Amino acid sequence: MKKIVILEGDGIGPEIMREALKVLEVVESKANIKFEKTFGHIGGEAYDKFGTPFPEETKRKCLEADAVLLGSVGGPKWDSLPPELKPETGGLLALRKLLNLYANLRPIRIYDSLKSISPLKETKISNVDLITVRELSYGIYYGEPKFIDNEKGLDTMIYDRKTVEKIAKLAFEIASKRRKIVTSVDKANVLRSSMFWRKVVKEISRDYPNISLNHMYVDNAAMQLILNPSQFDVILTSNMFGDILSDESAALVGSLGMLPSASLGDINLYEPAGGSAPDIAGKNIANPIAQILSCAMMLEFSFGMIDEARKIEKAVELVIEEGYRTRDLADHSSKILTTSQMGDVICKKLEEVW
Ligand code: IPM
Ligand code: MN
Repeated sequence: MKKIVILEGDGIGPEIMREALKVLEVVESKANIKFEKTFGHIGGEAYDKFGTPFPEETKRKCLEADAVLLGSVGGPKWDSLPPELKPETGGLLALRKLLNLYANLRPIRIYDSLKSISPLKETKISNVDLITVRELSYGIYYGEPKFIDNEKGLDTMIYDRKTVEKIAKLAFEIASKRRKIVTSVDKANVLRSSMFWRKVVKEISRDYPNISLNHMYVDNAAMQLILNPSQFDVILTSNMFGDILSDESAALVGSLGMLPSASLGDINLYEPAGGSAPDIAGKNIANPIAQILSCAMMLEFSFGMIDEARKIEKAVELVIEEGYRTRDLADHSSKILTTSQMGDVICKKLEEVW
């Protein structure tokens, strides 16, 4: 039996995870399979219980798993802890490193009936179909030395050949199954690490003559995502730039609550990109769709269950098209649902489309 480790984490994590697990149960019963699900602690809630954001038991469970499904970590309560105890750095970043997660895939999807909530005009948003391929285990998030005291803070942005080659190859492979355009985003007019990144990406591109490669500085990319987002197919970029640009790409859709992600490595991890949203946690109003779609990505990438993943995506699409909305997606005419109601209608729809 395939093992999934469930890490709900902080903030809205437990609420949105609950809905994803309901959806997973429908899949199990319809597809007649069973996953072994183990729960583990991570982030602020783990710190509160065990004094560490990443307990040894969680590490062990993750290393024994076939896939890890994560909610979200962090919140103001833990913001003043030292970095090694903070949910984000001591928890999530340590987990990404442990599982050797070299790539984070963040696809966005435009739904016809959600075009009206995009901050962009419908004509601009209509043909948008892009995926961010974010390097996830190196760059400024991890580079040494790192340091903070009362007088200074220091981080190091570093990329080596092996890391850039690996993520670039992945981006080209992904593009070869899409519109065959890779936009590599960097800051090579200033940063040495970016000059190096660009050089290695160019070298790798020689093995992919069918893919059109262009390079863009990150400031321009941030602007182009607003001015002309449909030019992008695969955005290949570093850890920090990918963090920033993928949030921006989610904003094109209208809500961060719609952005799933898959992180690839020794053992893949699936997590919504939206964060723990502490301001709305515990109110049963968060949007569970990013978590549910992350679960679909898990079925596809870790278990080869492509049909099942497509069915979940279809159910989500139909529910959206029928006008069901959590608060973040709502306009005046929508049927506003709670987190758990949204999970329920998606489950019901999934049973219908099966
Ligand atoms: C994300 C998040 C994380 C990141 C935080 C919570 C550490 O913003 O997954 O995008 O910066 O990678
Ligand atoms: Mn982020």
